[in-house]
Amino acid sequence: MLLSTRVRDIQDSITMKLNEKAIELTEEGRVVYNLSGGQLPIKPLPEFIEKIHHQLNFLKSYQYSPSAGFVALRKKLLKHFADTRHLSADLLENWDAIVSNGSKHSLYNALGAVVNPGDEVILLAPYWVTYPEIIKFWGATPKIVKSNVYDAFVPAVDDIRKLVTEKTKAIIVNSPNNPSGVHYSDDWMREFAAFLKERPGLIVISDEVYADLCYFDPKPTYFYQIDKSLLAQTIVVHAISKTLAATGLRLGYAIAPAEVTAAMGRIQGQTTSGPNSLMQRSLLDFDLSHLESFLTPIRNHIRLNAAFLREKFREANLGHCWYQSTSAFYFMIDFSRTPMFKRFGDEGDRSDVISDELLNKEGILVVPGRDFGIPNSARISLVIEEIPFQEAISKIIKYLKKH
Ligand SMILES: Cc1ncc(COP(=O)(O)O)c(C=O)c1O
Repeated sequence: MLLSTRVRDIQDSITMKLNEKAIELTEEGRVVYNLSGGQLPIKPLPEFIEKIHHQLNFLKSYQYSPSAGFVALRKKLLKHFADTRHLSADLLENWDAIVSNGSKHSLYNALGAVVNPGDEVILLAPYWVTYPEIIKFWGATPKIVKSNVYDAFVPAVDDIRKLVTEKTKAIIVNSPNNPSGVHYSDDWMREFAAFLKERPGLIVISDEVYADLCYFDPKPTYFYQIDKSLLAQTIVVHAISKTLAATGLRLGYAIAPAEVTAAMGRIQGQTTSGPNSLMQRSLLDFDLSHLESFLTPIRNHIRLNAAFLREKFREANLGHCWYQSTSAFYFMIDFSRTPMFKRFGDEGDRSDVISDELLNKEGILVVPGRDFGIPNSARISLVIEEIPFQEAISKIIKYLKKH
């Protein structure tokens, strides 16, 4: 059967594939240190699970919700956004929220609502692997702004400016960032806000799924907090996936000017309809202020693993792999100046080869950096338990030091 050109252009989700591979190897009895995880290895907090149990008793939990999600939940999410970003309610008077099947779905709807075939969408490397695929799905072209370990994976605003053409429709900003585990500084956001003021037609999709997972002060600031007039060109994407340890429950949302959420709602209404009613009602019933006490030990755990990693790199004279991660679940290892890399010479991207070796020789699963737009690197996840994490890091260092 001849498949459509659109689908032939879409890559398999590398992170999903790796997850499947880790399960397969573990089932074969091999010890695998799975550092590919983009989710917390724990259940959501008990108060939320209780809400799910409770909502099982109601007919509404089993029936269709409005396409854009229950109105009361949308209002709650909008208010939570205003409160946590310190924005007064009147600024969001003409705004709405739309609830979807995870934030990946929100991003898909958002891009569908704003880009036309032939448009360009700017991505800041490193970027989450799915962005280019969604952009291409809608017939637009991703344009990449580069960065590297030496600037702690923070792209220069001037480089963004240079990439803008008359075809540029949108830019996706993901702070805190997957895969680098950094968030852009206040100064960066200030410079970015000034750039956006020059470009009022440019739409910013601000993917904030890791906003609550910052383990270093200062916390993330967003451009629209610096200049509130920029809200008019902003679509914010968020989810319960990372914050509530609930990736499988598939609940994400977008918050944007109401004409945008209405357009996204039309796409959703004719594709998936509203997301899972039981989960929406459980979230509606759940007191979001419980999140803080749930997240505090998680942030501490990630901070400790990150500190261990940096310390060990320093001890092993792998200082050039070092940078200060601050948020989200991840750290990027740059292989290109490690002793192990010498055998490859300078040419080409070896991140796939190195990741395969790490898995086959050392039993360590990492995500190759190529798909994040950073050659000769890999993303490791900081969320696993302390002891296996430390064992895995020692093995990685041994591997990197080998000539
Ligand atoms: C930056 C970023 N955005 C969005 C998502 C999608 O999350 P979900 O669809 O589970 O809400 C992920 C998942 O890994 C992510 O890392």
